[in-house]
Amino acid sequence: MHTLLLVDDDPDVLATLTRSFRKGYKTLSASGGAEGIAFLNEHPVDLIICDQRMPNISGDQVLSHALHARPEAIRILLTGYADVESLLTCVNEAHIYKYVTKPWDPAELNLTVVRALESLVLKRDLDTARDQLETAYKDAVVMLCLAAEGKDQDTASHLYRVQHYTEALAIAMGVDAAEAAHMGFMSMLHDIGKLATPDAILKKPDKLTAEEWDIMREHPLAGVRILGNNPFYECAREISAGHHENYDGSGYPHGLCGDDIPMSARIVKLTDVFDALTTNRPYKTPWTMETAITHIEAHASIMFDPAMVEALKKLFADGTLLRIMTADYV
Ligand SMILES: [Fe+2]
Ligand SMILES: [Fe+2]
Repeated sequence: MHTLLLVDDDPDVLATLTRSFRKGYKTLSASGGAEGIAFLNEHPVDLIICDQRMPNISGDQVLSHALHARPEAIRILLTGYADVESLLTCVNEAHIYKYVTKPWDPAELNLTVVRALESLVLKRDLDTARDQLETAYKDAVVMLCLAAEGKDQDTASHLYRVQHYTEALAIAMGVDAAEAAHMGFMSMLHDIGKLATPDAILKKPDKLTAEEWDIMREHPLAGVRILGNNPFYECAREISAGHHENYDGSGYPHGLCGDDIPMSARIVKLTDVFDALTTNRPYKTPWTMETAITHIEAHASIMFDPAMVEALKKLFADGTLLRIMTADYV
């Protein structure tokens, strides 16, 4: 059952309103602005009908408070006369759904409330559906990465650490939080192209021949093909294509240099190597973070973007890297 908050300093009006909505709704009646605000702070409310002209706290103030305290709740203003100025304030600052002039037609107000609550339910259903969809595609990305993981020496925890290093480094480079989180998530797909690399090459214990290296170097663009053309995976395609490019242009597949390499790929180049250096791999024992950072510094402007190397050093100094490295991921 929906909860309606009715606010009016006139007891007769308040009683009329309460009577007309008693059936089918849970009603809260407030006899003034202060009481209305107190209700808003204490109770979840689906819809507010509030009088404009009240002593001390006016209707637009109550509805503006509602916008912040209960942003989802529908806001309806009751005006005694055409008070254009307060109406404008209300529309602009409290984002009201509708204003109703006194005296109102009860059937019309009832219909307004019914329609408003229908739109509220619809919005909630849409939000739920969007959340479910978002979870589903995120799960699909992780599933795809985990399926690919068995083919290489990379582990699930490598992918999660690269995700979080990438997000932290992106924020340190000035990327806004939501975009950095997306970039981190997309970084999990950096080696998805290895699905197309034959096992005989991926798992070969001996050194690769020149021809085998050529095939190995196809994985960045194989990843781009696997990731298709959905705009959502644009960042993942950039990362897949560019995570073996070197800052000085000596990398592959395109030999891009400097800022021609997309920022996301420059970041993942660094976080992927940093994680490989500092963790156990079949061919090596983990290096300490200090040794890894010294090694990375020696390759600044050669393999890595020097500004990103500096940002990584700051993340080392403030403990961010250690926190990510030692977190539990699986
Ligand atoms: Fe790779
Ligand atoms: Fe990797």
